[in-house]
Amino acid sequence: MDTTGFKTVRYSKTTITELMIPSYANFGGKIHGGILLSLMDKVAYVCAAKHAGTYCVTASIDSVDFLAPVEVGELVSLNASVNYVGSASLIVGIRVSSENVKTQVIKHTNTSYFTMVAMGDDHKPVQVPGLILETKDEVRRFVETMKRKELSKQNRNTLNSIKMPMKLESYNELLTHERCLVKTD
Ligand SMILES: CC(C)(COP(=O)(O)OP(=O)(O)OC[C@H]1O[C@@H](n2cnc3c(N)ncnc32)[C@H](O)[C@@H]1OP(=O)(O)O)[C@@H](O)C(=O)NCCC(=O)NCCS
Repeated sequence: MDTTGFKTVRYSKTTITELMIPSYANFGGKIHGGILLSLMDKVAYVCAAKHAGTYCVTASIDSVDFLAPVEVGELVSLNASVNYVGSASLIVGIRVSSENVKTQVIKHTNTSYFTMVAMGDDHKPVQVPGLILETKDEVRRFVETMKRKELSKQNRNTLNSIKMPMKLESYNELLTHERCLVKTD
């Protein structure tokens, strides 16, 4: 099999581990969601750029649900791998977990998918290498991502179709049971 122009998932797998220091915390003493998002963007970039062999930009991020709070002093690990490649786009799956070094308890804090686009020196999208899938899990993730992409497209179309005209009278009934007061003139 000719693998020219293809790279394995293994080649670009990336892990970043970072200690959660006090300056990352919010007023409640837990780590800011934004700190975790920034680390996720960083690991997605490294993974995507390694596969693409060019610099990449973040095009979109799917929903991010934080499943458990992260505490100061914990070690956060972000494991990233390329789950899918299109032409210029790559979808990087990121699994985030945090570990209490004293108790060795590990929490899964979230899993998210970043769409990255490879850019050429002319700042235009360029084609990325294809993906060599070496394990059953890699094949499963590729196919699941194809399905997720299709669902996102359908969701986007549905969301666009619910945009409403600016006729306030038509909103009154919808807002009857909501916890808001309309005080427009
Ligand atoms: C992402 C970006 C390069 C796409 O440019 P574009 O002119 O729309 O490029 P194209 O239409 O040729 O699309 C290129 C690929 O990106 C994908 N893409 C573009 N916008 C996307 C989006 N919002 N979500 C997911 N994929 C997207 C396309 O599907 C296409 O994929 P494919 O080549 O695998 O088929 C451009 O919108 C951009 O520069 N955005 C800003 C990125 C940035 O600054 N990120 C940091 C956040 S502050």
